[in-house]
Amino acid sequence: MAQTPQQPKPTTAQDHIDAMLHENRVIPPSDAFRARAKVSREDYERMYRQSLDDPDGFWSGVAGELHWMKDWDQVLDWQLPHAQWFVGGQTNVAYNALDRNVQRGYGDKRAIVWEGEDGEVRTYTYAELLREVCKAANALEGLGVVAGDRVTLYLPLIPEAAIAMLACARIGAAHSVVFGGFSVAALADRINNAQSKLLITADAGYRRGKPVTLKVNADEAAKLAPSLEKILVVKRTGTPVDWWTEGRDLWWHDVVDRQSDQHEAAALDSEQPLFLLYTSGSTGTPKGVVHTTGGYMVGTYLTTKTVFDLQDDDVYWCTADVGWVTGHSYSVYGPLLNAATVVMYEGAPNHPDWGRFWDIIQRHRVTILYTAPTAIRAFMQHGEEIPGRYDLSSLRLLGSVGEPINPEAWMWYWRVIGGERCPVVDTWWQTETGSIMLTTLPGAHPSKPGSAGVPMFGIEPTLMTHEGDELGPGDGGLLVIKRPWPSMLRTVYGDDERYRKSYWGEIGGVYFAGDGARRDSDGYYTIVGRVDDVLNVSGHRLGTMEIESALVSHPDVSEAAVVGRPDPVKGEAVVAFVLLQDGHSADPADLRRHVSREIGALARPDAIIIAEALPKTRSGKIMRRFLRQIAAGNEITGDTSTLEDPAVLDKLASTPAV
Ligand code: PRX
Repeated sequence: MAQTPQQPKPTTAQDHIDAMLHENRVIPPSDAFRARAKVSREDYERMYRQSLDDPDGFWSGVAGELHWMKDWDQVLDWQLPHAQWFVGGQTNVAYNALDRNVQRGYGDKRAIVWEGEDGEVRTYTYAELLREVCKAANALEGLGVVAGDRVTLYLPLIPEAAIAMLACARIGAAHSVVFGGFSVAALADRINNAQSKLLITADAGYRRGKPVTLKVNADEAAKLAPSLEKILVVKRTGTPVDWWTEGRDLWWHDVVDRQSDQHEAAALDSEQPLFLLYTSGSTGTPKGVVHTTGGYMVGTYLTTKTVFDLQDDDVYWCTADVGWVTGHSYSVYGPLLNAATVVMYEGAPNHPDWGRFWDIIQRHRVTILYTAPTAIRAFMQHGEEIPGRYDLSSLRLLGSVGEPINPEAWMWYWRVIGGERCPVVDTWWQTETGSIMLTTLPGAHPSKPGSAGVPMFGIEPTLMTHEGDELGPGDGGLLVIKRPWPSMLRTVYGDDERYRKSYWGEIGGVYFAGDGARRDSDGYYTIVGRVDDVLNVSGHRLGTMEIESALVSHPDVSEAAVVGRPDPVKGEAVVAFVLLQDGHSADPADLRRHVSREIGALARPDAIIIAEALPKTRSGKIMRRFLRQIAAGNEITGDTSTLEDPAVLDKLASTPAV
C-alpha cells in the first residue's frame, strides 16, 4: 500500500537546537550487537583515558599494528601550530592497504565491489587490486612522476579513482582529487594552485543516465593550467573524445595495462604529503588542505576499525564520492587499511529510481552503510514504501556524516532502514581533521538522535567563547580541539600563514573548527552548524565568498551577497542578493548558468533576489545576519540602528525571489 510521502521538517540551526532540547530519546545498542562489538564501554573508557594520559604509548600501540619500513624515533613533535607525527618513521599507505593485507592472507578477499550507474559490476580482490595499483604506479613513474609531485584527479567514482590514489601514495606523489561536478574554472584553479604536471581524468562518467563529459572540461582547464604536461584518460563510457592532443593525452588502458604488476612501494617519510584536498573557507579561494602519510594512515585505520566495528565478513559501503574527504578516508584508505570489502557506486541515488541504494544493499548484502543526512531526508520525502520493497536484513550498522542530522531523519534512518536493529553512528569531522573526531562507538555508547556523541581516542574537544574562556555543560559555544591528533591537516598548501590564522589563531593555541556546538551532562556534543560564512549544501561545503566572486564576475552584476537558507532536504540552500550594473537587466537563468560555469552546479543559487541596495553599516560592512533572516522569510530582529539605511530591509523583504 502506498504511503503518503513524509515531509521532513525544516532544519534551521534553531530548529535543530529546539528539537534536541526536546529530544530525550536514548537508544542503546542491542545486546546482540554489543556481544560481538570490537569495543565495549569499558574498552572505550580505558582506551580514551590512555590516549590522553599516555598519548605516546597509545599511538605507538595503534601505529604498531601497521607496517613501517623504519620505526619512528619520536611519536609527536608539537611546535604550535605545527605537528609532526611518528617523526623519523618510514612507511607507505598503499603498502599497508594492499601488500600487507595480501601477506596476512586476505589476497582472495574482495577489496572493491564496484557498481556503475549503468549496472556494470567489477570486483577486485586484494591481490588483484595490488596488481592494478602496481601497474598504475609503474605507469606514473614511466611518465616521470616522482615523490613530492602533485597529481590532479578529475574522475567519476570508478575503480580507477581508488587505483590512481593508491598508485600516487605508493610512489609518494600527492594526489589532489577534484570532484567531477566542479567546473572548468574550479579545476584549473586547483591544478594551478597545486602546480600539477599530470591530470588523470576519464572520457566521461554516468550521472542520472547521461554521460558527464569530463575530458571536455579537462581540455578547457588545460588551456588555463600551464603546469600540465600530460593527461591520462580512463575510457569509462566510450563517449567520443573530440579533442586529443598527441604527445599530451594518453589512454589509461594504453599506458597502464602493459606495465609490470610488480612494484616495490617506496619507503616514505611519515610526514611525506599524501594528498591535497581543496575545501572552502569563509574567505578567499578554496584552501588546499595538506594531509601526510603516517598520521593520516594511523587515524583513518583506527577510526574505521572502531567506529564501524569492522568484522572480517562485513560488506561496507560509504556512499561518498572520492572528490570529498569522506571518500578519501572512508571509501578508500580507512576500509582498505582494515582489509574490508568496500562497495563503491558510481551514480545518483535516484537512478533509475529512488530504490537504487536499497537495491545495491540487497544485491551485495551490504552490512554497514555510511551516508549523509541530505540523502536520508530525500529518501524520507519519497516515502518508506520504497525501501520497504527491498530486503535490507543484511544491514547491521548505519552511519551519518557531513552535516547535522535532525532527530526526525535520524529516527527514520534507524527505524525504516535499520529496522530498529542497527545502531546509528553520527560522525562529526572535517576535511581538515582527516578522520572522525566525535561519534558514538556502536557497541559502547547509547545514541541520542541528533547528537554526534563523544570524542574519539586522542581527541580533546571543548567549547569556548571567542575570548578563549571554556564553557560548561549545557552552554553553547565554539567547538575547539585542545591538542594535536595524528590525522590533522599539516598546513594549507602554499599558504602556511592562512593555516596559522584560520585554525590556530582564531582562538589562541587551540584548533578552531568553525562549528558551534553544545555539550550535555553526559559529555555528548551536538553540532549546531557553522559559525562562519561557510555553507553546507547537501553536505557539500561552499564558501559564500566564492559564490559572490562568481556572481560579480558576471557583466550584469555590480555587487552580490550570498547567505544560506534552511532547506528541508539540502540542509541549506543558496540565496543570492544581487545588485545590477546601472542600465543592465537581470537574467536569473544566465546568472545561475554563470555560477555553474565558475564553480559547479552544486553552487547554483536556489533563489536570487535582485536588490537595489544591501543592508550596510555606515562603514560599509554588509550585515548578513539580516540577509539570513530575510532569506528564511523570518521576521527581522536585532538592532538595526547601526545600518546606514534601515529601510533597505523592508524593501528587500518585499522583493520576490527569482
Ligand atoms: O559543519 C560541520 C559539518 O561539515 C563540516 C565539514 O565539512 P567538510 O570538510 O566538507 O567535511 C564533511 C565530511 C566530514 C563541519 O565543519 N559536519 C560534518 N559532519 C557533521 C557535521 N555537522 C554535524 N554533524 C556531523 N556529523
